[in-house]
Amino acid sequence: MGKDVIVACDFASAEQTFAFLDKFQGRKPFVKIGMELYYAEGPSIVKEIKKRGHKIFLDLKLHDIPNTVKKSMAVLSNLDVDITNLHAGGTIRMMEAAIEGLTRPDGTRPLLIAVTQLTSTDQESMEKDLLIKEPIDKVVMHYAHNAKLAGLDGVVCSPLEAGKVHEICGKEFLTITPGVRFADGDVGDQKRVMTPAQAKEIGSDYIVVGRPITAAEDPVAAYERCIKEFVD
Ligand code: C5P
Repeated sequence: MGKDVIVACDFASAEQTFAFLDKFQGRKPFVKIGMELYYAEGPSIVKEIKKRGHKIFLDLKLHDIPNTVKKSMAVLSNLDVDITNLHAGGTIRMMEAAIEGLTRPDGTRPLLIAVTQLTSTDQESMEKDLLIKEPIDKVVMHYAHNAKLAGLDGVVCSPLEAGKVHEICGKEFLTITPGVRFADGDVGDQKRVMTPAQAKEIGSDYIVVGRPITAAEDPVAAYERCIKEFVD
């Protein structure tokens, strides 16, 4: 899979999601389904969006003992998603178990991506709450490297970290970057943002874009603008 724009469908119901996707008519954007929508609608939402011909990034961020993650990943693999993810904080052994669970009898599997430190975690909360004393950038790169060692395909990271991740883990190691905003758009609650063009420049493989598309007056035009800036 090459560079693409993944639309974060952060909706509370299938009804809202389909009303949004219907606007795209013939176009089939790559879609991210997160916890809110998945917990509201269950696996049927994945199957229905897949049936409509979209690629799917199922963003459920698994984190549990290796055996549980392995078995759960086998279930997600059967849903035929294209990308799914977990927390690198679950250790290398958990990530290896995830790959085992995800791999189908014919050897194929969805891409598996790690979350390093959430962008809502800062140096202070990491030190105080998690007792991790190293600088957060170092922790993020260490977790990315662990993901690479475990055989994962990439990480979710800030566009600002994408270049460094590629330096440490190789060019083929995928970087999926949220926090994307148009130059003339609203930043909202995102702290460190980049435009689609800047994310392309810095080497992100996929950008995840939510509100700049979902809340736009013309979501299809906003999506096309992302594609134009990031892919074309
Ligand atoms: O609406 P917006 O473009 O900010 O949406 C970004 C999407 O990426 C949301 O689904 C959000 O949960 C997700 N995300 C993020 N920052 C991270 C990880 C995921 O914004 N570090």
